[in-house]
Amino acid sequence: MTETVTLKVDGKEYQLPLVTGTEGERAIDITRLRAETGLISLDPGYGNTGSCESAITYIDGEQGILRYRGIPIEQFEKNPNFIEVAWLLIFGKLPTQQEYDRFSEVLTNTANVDEAMKHNFQGFPRSAPPMAILSAMINALSCYHPEFQDVDDPDQLEAVAARLISKIRTIAAYAYRRSRGKPVIYPDPKLRYVPNFLHMMFSQPYDKYICDDVTQDAFNLLLILHADHEQNCSTSTVRMVGSSQANLFASCASGVSALWGPLHGGANVQVLKMLQTIHDGDMTPEEYVRRAKDKDSGERLMGFGHRVYKNFDPRATVLQRTAERLFKKMNKQDPLLDIARKLEEITLSDSYFVERNLYPNVDFYSGIILRAIGIPVNMFTVIFAIGRLPGWIAHWAEQNVSASPRIARPRQVYTGNPETRYVSLLDE
Ligand code: SDX
Repeated sequence: MTETVTLKVDGKEYQLPLVTGTEGERAIDITRLRAETGLISLDPGYGNTGSCESAITYIDGEQGILRYRGIPIEQFEKNPNFIEVAWLLIFGKLPTQQEYDRFSEVLTNTANVDEAMKHNFQGFPRSAPPMAILSAMINALSCYHPEFQDVDDPDQLEAVAARLISKIRTIAAYAYRRSRGKPVIYPDPKLRYVPNFLHMMFSQPYDKYICDDVTQDAFNLLLILHADHEQNCSTSTVRMVGSSQANLFASCASGVSALWGPLHGGANVQVLKMLQTIHDGDMTPEEYVRRAKDKDSGERLMGFGHRVYKNFDPRATVLQRTAERLFKKMNKQDPLLDIARKLEEITLSDSYFVERNLYPNVDFYSGIILRAIGIPVNMFTVIFAIGRLPGWIAHWAEQNVSASPRIARPRQVYTGNPETRYVSLLDE
């Protein structure tokens, strides 16, 4: 027997079904609301609205829980393998060795982009934002891979997912090399996913970059922690675009654009700028926190707060441990890490942050790790996109491949002019 809630409108009662999720979270199913009552719901920012049912990722914002296909993200910390987690998110279970080897082989063999595509990078100014190039070039993959235009062929999914996960590295590295006026470095088929990316980023024709195990683990873990986060802004964008039956490249290119925003994936860049401002002595941590609390300042404490987490973002906790481990192994001290710790300490005892449940989120420590690895600040959000890509693919596939979605088309409450006669003000 389906549980229902009663809605009373104009003296009439309506029964709306309740949907209950795996962990007991409940939702009012308003699929029939307008047809039965003539009413729609209104929820700017969708803070109270579920757009879909999904089996990919579970977040409990109050408890600070994040699980990929049921596995708590903390369990990936010991032996981080981004490609294994990418498979888990996309196909719903951990890969067998045979599946993993097959997927890895395609990743290796398809890491190059079409040679003609390489010249597109020369068309961008060196100052071009890498996120603009990334979005444009992921979309451009549609031009070179017409074989992947079908959106509902499960047999194609593994092939197109492998190519996109592989090529996003190459596109990102080529964008970076372009911005530095350096020659592109081709992928090396002997290298694994992360070392190959860092090779394309940092090797020179005469001097090959070698990725040590500590860096490889830290980078794999950083990508894993960014891999999915249920219906965040960029993933919802990918679902929205995919609902029109746009192909995977076009849908993920739109996800890159949404992630670019400073309130979303762009926050890690803002965090580094904030820490650098404090480090350069322009402001003490205490002064910065004061400005972040002052609504008139227009400033926020970047890397703090979250729409869903009203507790510690579990990713921030793992990333803080990863940063400590990385610096210890590198025998490095980073004053920005000390400043980050100081900001966290101040806010934990400041009622403004405590009352609003504002804690460090995934972006607070990620930038410090990326900087330690040598990734420039303008590439931070690009790295976030590389990490988030398997999540975008998983949600696109869950919506498009395993079901046939209705096109997403929200309603609105109109508050404009009543019917008005057209009287042109232009000269005859
Ligand atoms: C990501 O959705 C996801 O899952 C995203 C993400 C993912 O993995 O995809 O987790 C990645 O986007 C992480 C968030 C990165 N963004 C930042 O770090 C930017 C700084 N944070 C904020 O702008 C803010 O916290 C948001 C955007 C993250 C969340 O904003 P909400 O949920 O809309 O919260 P809100 O703006 O309604 O704020 C509630 C209150 C307000 O104060 P009052 O009006 O109640 O007095 O908290 C205040 C806000 O002013 N507030 C902050 C703050 N964040 C919220 N005050 C100071 N500093 C902050 N960072």
